[in-house]
Amino acid sequence: MWNGKSTAEKYDKYAAEYPMYKETNKFLVELAKINKGMTVLDLACGTGLTTPEILKKLGNSGKVISIDSSKYMLDIAKGKIKQENVSFVLSPAENVNELVKGKIGLVLCNSAFWQTDMPKTLQAIHSILKQEGKFVFNFPDQFFQSKDNPKSKYLRKVMAEVANEYGHESYLDAVIPKTFKLWTYESIKKLLESNSFKLTDYKEFILKRTAEDIKEHLGTLGVMAIVFPNLTDEERAKILDKTINRLDESNLPDTTWACFVAEKII
Ligand SMILES: C[S@@+](CC[C@H](N)C(=O)[O-])C[C@H]1O[C@@H](n2cnc3c(N)ncnc32)[C@H](O)[C@@H]1O
Repeated sequence: MWNGKSTAEKYDKYAAEYPMYKETNKFLVELAKINKGMTVLDLACGTGLTTPEILKKLGNSGKVISIDSSKYMLDIAKGKIKQENVSFVLSPAENVNELVKGKIGLVLCNSAFWQTDMPKTLQAIHSILKQEGKFVFNFPDQFFQSKDNPKSKYLRKVMAEVANEYGHESYLDAVIPKTFKLWTYESIKKLLESNSFKLTDYKEFILKRTAEDIKEHLGTLGVMAIVFPNLTDEERAKILDKTINRLDESNLPDTTWACFVAEKII
């Protein structure tokens, strides 16, 4: 999905113009409690939004290793970030231990962990973390059943409106099949424990969305292309416009992000 030049450019533009990735990165970096001098791995660094937030905490001290499996995303990040204490690595998260040598104090992953093979990624991270090193990551409510805000379901709510508008339930199922089992606080805790991590902190972050943001986001992520594969971009944009315009601005779904801090145990 991320391995194309135009997707990388669209993502970077959306991330710069709308609050989603800026805000989730800030929240996650605060939660990670970064100390000066640390070596931090920015896992799935994308077009380089997370690394500058980490650098704000590190200054010139310490190091950041920014990795991503998409050459196009990484190229944009490299073009933006020139600090000498940052290095870039093209690698799948699942194999990061093959290319990253030396022990890492913190692995931070904004908005990507669920896109990887999670047990494999945890094993790879475990082998490069220092003793008591931390892994900090998050999930949006498309994939995670919020613990503190049980009604939160951004994508399902918007797609239900699309289905409502076009009278066809499969629009909803095309994005998230009914059979998809959302991750929960308990299932993530269990996954961490079975890969020798213990959960040490958990917080939810609620992001307010505007109609413009939702339209741009679903366009950028290609969600409408999944739902309406046979339509043109223009036709899809019209459908989304019509649907979102029917939603009352004061009643647009928020997105809840569940944020985890896990510590390596031996
Ligand atoms: C939503 S973007 C997030 C990027 C960045 N962390 C940010 O906050 O802007 C998801 C990123 O995860 C990367 N990604 C997805 N699966 C991956 C994998 N298995 N290994 C490494 N990177 C992966 C994609 O290439 C993409 O850059």
